[in-house]
Amino acid sequence: MIQWCLCLLMLLLANNIPHSEATSRSENKIKSAVFLSPKLTFGPGVVVNKLLYNVDFPKGHIAIKSFNGELVDEAGNSVPLHETYLHHWVLERYYQLKDSANSSNVTRIQVKNSGLCEGSFLRQYFGLGSETRKTETHIPDPYGIEAGNPAEIPYGYEEIWMLNVHGIDTRGVENTLGCTECWCDLYNVTENINGQPLSPNYKGGLLCCNDGKQCRLRKNYKGAIRNLYLRYTVKWVDWDSKNIIPLNIYIFDITDTERVNNTSGIISIQHNCQIEYDVQTCNATGVARKKRCIDAKTTSLTIPTGGYLIYGVGHQHAGGAGTTLYGKHGRVLCSSLPTYGKGKEAGNEAGYIVGMSTCYPKPGSVKIADGEKLVVESNYNSTQEHIGVMGLFYILVADRIA
Ligand SMILES: *[C@@H]1O[C@H](CO)[C@@H](O)[C@H](O)[C@H]1NC(C)=O
Ligand SMILES: *[C@@H]1O[C@H](CO)[C@@H](O)[C@H](O)[C@H]1NC(C)=O
Ligand SMILES: *[C@@H]1O[C@H](CO)[C@@H](O)[C@H](O)[C@H]1NC(C)=O
Ligand SMILES: *[C@@H]1O[C@H](CO)[C@@H](O)[C@H](O)[C@H]1NC(C)=O
Ligand SMILES: *[C@@H]1O[C@H](CO)[C@@H](O)[C@H](O)[C@H]1NC(C)=O
Ligand SMILES: *[C@@H]1O[C@H](CO)[C@@H](O)[C@H](O)[C@H]1NC(C)=O
Ligand SMILES: *[C@@H]1O[C@H](CO)[C@@H](O)[C@H](O)[C@H]1NC(C)=O
Repeated sequence: MIQWCLCLLMLLLANNIPHSEATSRSENKIKSAVFLSPKLTFGPGVVVNKLLYNVDFPKGHIAIKSFNGELVDEAGNSVPLHETYLHHWVLERYYQLKDSANSSNVTRIQVKNSGLCEGSFLRQYFGLGSETRKTETHIPDPYGIEAGNPAEIPYGYEEIWMLNVHGIDTRGVENTLGCTECWCDLYNVTENINGQPLSPNYKGGLLCCNDGKQCRLRKNYKGAIRNLYLRYTVKWVDWDSKNIIPLNIYIFDITDTERVNNTSGIISIQHNCQIEYDVQTCNATGVARKKRCIDAKTTSLTIPTGGYLIYGVGHQHAGGAGTTLYGKHGRVLCSSLPTYGKGKEAGNEAGYIVGMSTCYPKPGSVKIADGEKLVVESNYNSTQEHIGVMGLFYILVADRIA
């Protein structure tokens, strides 16, 4: 379908990619392509949350070197967050029966990352939110995320990618922060998608801003319906087992808690990822309020298989004041701090997190042991209450270095 691929721009960027080290092993050229998602139709106050199966993606046995995206309009202009808030996009990998329709009810096997959450929670390969425009995702040589290995794809299946895009059009809304934090009262939502009443303690979060929901508008506000796209850029190299070191992806969730299940000697660790949490307003006044109102949350999680840390980044929502991943004895593995915008233009929207800082330790310098207990810390500014916020830590680890 034409609109799935309005612009496919193949650039051979052999020498344009900044290399962190002065090696030039680039016989294997970095390829880059820009794709557009299917059309996403927004009206003022409307939530769009789509699962887009089988989106355009590089084919073949490859190593992914970076992935990032942003919302654009039909003319290809970047859309600022104060018009359409990008709650998140995530990229998931699946094996799908060949020649099946791209609907959501087809038999698919999710190819999960190595992360800890139960079931299919947070099993994406890449994912970002409002910070998408100023967050680095590139993977230094000789590392990469392997995909499309024909030897791993079950017979009769093909590898496909699913993009979940969740955006909220906040043009003309009564309360922008409330709509972006998915406050249930603003969406007039009291039940979950199965029609069961939500707990009265549930003030907001993803359950209240499903696809198609409407956030309350200012009286008499009129705004046009418009079509947007997630424009995403993938960089990759052809697979080369001699020269590429594959990476494992872990995602840690601050709300996750671990419990050991010992059923007649069979030990397993159970997880309980809530994904979202609320930050209470701090109990302080005056100067103390300005200084001390930080909500610090921590959780302790065990990484089954460690490795050398190659990349790390956190994910937080507005109000976020940074997140840190610690190893044993409190050593800092990576700290990721938000950048807030200061203006109006896309990529610099005041009040929004427009970027998260990343870690690129010198490969070999940060090693995580198998079974090491890690601590995730997520800090929020609690001078005001925040609903449905997140604290994730995403890392890439290699089992050997070059
Ligand atoms: C599914 O999506 C792919 C990729 O966009 C497309 O080539 C294919 O025609 C679609 N299949 C159906 C049955 O719509
Ligand atoms: C799957 O969804 C398609 C449309 O999205 C529908 O036509 C088809 O009947 C569904 N199949 C099953 C088995 O539910
Ligand atoms: C909110 O939802 C209830 C029932 O679910 C409906 O009766 C009411 O009209 C809605 N209010 C608004 C402002 O949409
Ligand atoms: C503990 O693990 C066993 C399998 O080893 C499983 O059947 C059981 O449901 C688990 N217990 C809990 C409380 O989840
Ligand atoms: C698990 O339970 C068995 C008894 O069923 C006990 O002998 C063993 O020590 C327990 N292991 C741990 C790690 O708690
Ligand atoms: C704030 O803290 C003080 C002392 O710890 C307590 O007496 C007061 O009730 C608290 N106020 C609120 C609104 O929680
Ligand atoms: C928290 O946010 C308030 C209001 O946005 C601001 O005045 C304050 O300086 C912030 N506090 C910290 C510790 O960043």
